[in-house]
Amino acid sequence: MTASSQGTVAGGPRRQRPVIAIDGPAGAGKSTLAAHLARRFGFLNLETGAMYRALALKALNTHSPLDDEGVLVRLTETTQIVLEPRPNDTNRVLLDGDDVTRRIRERDVSEAASQVSVHPRVRAWMVERQRALGQQGGVVMEGRDIGTKVFPDAELKIFLDAQDEIRGQRRYLQNAGSSDAPTPEAVLAAVRDRDARDRNRAASPLQPAPDAIHLDTTGLTLEQVCALAEEMVAAKMPS
Ligand code: DC
Repeated sequence: MTASSQGTVAGGPRRQRPVIAIDGPAGAGKSTLAAHLARRFGFLNLETGAMYRALALKALNTHSPLDDEGVLVRLTETTQIVLEPRPNDTNRVLLDGDDVTRRIRERDVSEAASQVSVHPRVRAWMVERQRALGQQGGVVMEGRDIGTKVFPDAELKIFLDAQDEIRGQRRYLQNAGSSDAPTPEAVLAAVRDRDARDRNRAASPLQPAPDAIHLDTTGLTLEQVCALAEEMVAAKMPS
């Protein structure tokens, strides 16, 4: 399935409701903004990173080598990942029927997710599912390649960013209190590592789509970011 087979490109019928693509590096605030916009406009909120995390968890559980694309592709053939949007919250994530919502946020899975996501055939599997989930529109989809690859025809593309130190601090605060809570310095180092891999991989690297609106959240409050993005979405709603 391709975006152009969904009848959403120039010349074909438009979606009734928009696809909102939010891309950017770890800790930029994508999930918080996506949940806010979804609630405000009554859209589905789909976190594509959770899908890479769920597959990475399965790879860890089955002792599959993270650098072996063939093994990972075979793993997808027996894998079912379900994202259940929850109002005002992150997605509930089911891996082969098990609730892995919390587990996939742990440090080892974050690192593994970035590693499995470098493989083009793993990405192709993910992208096909993500397009199927979002094709009707009325969806906020966040990740790294939504505006460039999954929905290059998205009605609105936001590229959310912030200085490394700020992103590291946000991630630290998000995870503080968890069983394996690392130091702020370790979190910043892990965020930088993951960014470097996500930005430099050959397949769909993290980069803004040419027509994405850049939103640097470094000096902004959450309320300010949400208000700016709300205006952008409102402008895309059918009158
Ligand atoms: O958004 P996140 O931190 O949950 O994503 C986890 C990893 O998955 C991230 O390091 C890169 C990868 N990812 C990706 O390559 N493409 C996406 N659309 C979403 C996530």
